[in-house]
Amino acid sequence: MLHWEELKKTCADCTRCALCDTRHNVVFGVGNETADILFIGEGPGEQEDLQGIPFVGAAGKFLDDMLSIIDIDRTNCYIANIVKCRPPHNRDPLETEQDACIGYLRNQVALIRPKIIVCLGRIAAKRVIREDYRITKEHGTWTEKNGVWMTAIYHPAALLRDVSKRPETFDDLLSIRQKLRQLAAET
Ligand code: URA
Repeated sequence: MLHWEELKKTCADCTRCALCDTRHNVVFGVGNETADILFIGEGPGEQEDLQGIPFVGAAGKFLDDMLSIIDIDRTNCYIANIVKCRPPHNRDPLETEQDACIGYLRNQVALIRPKIIVCLGRIAAKRVIREDYRITKEHGTWTEKNGVWMTAIYHPAALLRDVSKRPETFDDLLSIRQKLRQLAAET
């Protein structure tokens, strides 16, 4: 396991998959390195690639609004992605790209030691929670894995496209707030 500075440098120089050829920046992750809660998206989009920061485009602004509902901002959570470089034209990251990159996220999880992991969307949920995870059926449900509580909610980009999913997500966010409070009270 690498420490933060080494890990950041290794990611910045990474050539483990072909996404390195087209990236402008590696999008390492942002937030509080000792946060109780970690949000995991799928991969950087155009703005994230240009700025080197996760969730700064339209979906990111919506994510910030969602987090504010449960009193979270970028100072008290950590935000990362399954892959750290932008897939061309925002396609889903390939299995091989995920495989090449996932070790970096595992290292981040080991350093942060979050109590809660929230997967943003199908790709992250399938990779982090269970390969056959069904986001439409299972969003908002909780699973404990190696002492970490995990859930998934719809990706903010999906919520921008489909407002009918927002009420369910609101309930999921309240459940996340409750879980955070409960776990904080236990320690
Ligand atoms: N979508 C993601 O999944 N991650 C980002 O960082 C931005 C958009």
